[in-house]
Amino acid sequence: MAGYAPSAKIELQNKPVQEIAEGGGDVVPERYIHREISGAGSFDATLPYMDCAPIDLQLLSSSSPNRQEELDKLRSALHSWGCFQVVNHGMPASSMGKMREAGKQFFALPMEEKRKYSRPVDDLEGYGHDTFVSEDRILDWTDRLYLLAFPEERRRLKFWPEKPPLLREKLREYAIKSQEILELVLNAMALSLGLEEKSFLKQYGENGMIFARFNFYPRCPRPDCILGIKQHSDGSAVTIVLQDEKVEGLQVLKDDQWFKVPIIPDALFINAGDQVEIMSNGIFKSPVHRVVTNSESERLSVAMFCTPDPENEIGPSDELITDDRRQSYKKVKNYPMIYYHYYELGETPLSSVKI
Ligand code: OGA
Ligand code: NI
Repeated sequence: MAGYAPSAKIELQNKPVQEIAEGGGDVVPERYIHREISGAGSFDATLPYMDCAPIDLQLLSSSSPNRQEELDKLRSALHSWGCFQVVNHGMPASSMGKMREAGKQFFALPMEEKRKYSRPVDDLEGYGHDTFVSEDRILDWTDRLYLLAFPEERRRLKFWPEKPPLLREKLREYAIKSQEILELVLNAMALSLGLEEKSFLKQYGENGMIFARFNFYPRCPRPDCILGIKQHSDGSAVTIVLQDEKVEGLQVLKDDQWFKVPIIPDALFINAGDQVEIMSNGIFKSPVHRVVTNSESERLSVAMFCTPDPENEIGPSDELITDDRRQSYKKVKNYPMIYYHYYELGETPLSSVKI
């Protein structure tokens, strides 16, 4: 993924968060602490839950008379929240369970085993931690395993852990299913906006890629001022998130208010990424979200970042540019490259392509 590589020259590698956490004690390195939110009660357990009814994927793609109603629900969820939970998605509950298990087993391995898959400084794939380009960039309390998972022939197996054996096999299956879900969701998104069904999928292209990211959040001694992932939107077109089955942590921003994402058994969480915000000319939101930490339980999630063909031009659909709604975004190619550039600087990537 040379085109997306972080800037190796100025990057500093950090210690795995797991090592810091296992060191025990309440003293954490300064670089993880968000001064602006410390003690401000931002991680208040009394935050409201996101109260958006789950969407039935099977109904979205069926010929049932209730389909239109479900498409309307989808449009409304993506317009107001930028995300939704999905049920009847076709991903077997057993695959979801095995993915979590594989992730947990990988992070439980001895450090020297995990290090065999370490991400080189000029690469995106592999086992790694937050990187930063300046001393004042606050770090995230998470370790990750990041792999290009789809299409199969582009996998770089040197980064795919051999242990636990479950991981390679299950991720392969999970990625194929994720691609099916992605296609159904992109088609439903386009239909819900009155567009030709395949119009978003055409922009996404046949050479799109899915990157899998196993996020491991160790227990954190200072959940009052340390974030698992600081607030961001995703650079993908669509992200499919498998949440931990027990431990909450994901939060979404809507109208300047944070909402907790509830755990719904067997549901997947799907959010629009910046590239769907662009394609929909801003009708769909790429939601700002973050992950909070907690001192009692570790948490594992798996995010599948569905990323359009980098050769394709992504832009607002012509039909969505009208007298009432001018074109709000430039056309872009290889958006993740733009995304990483601004993300590293701590800026909002999407702003750079707004008109
Ligand atoms: C991400 C992300 C959410 C989660 O990896 O970009 O937002 O629940 N993850 O871990
Ligand atoms: Ni995210």
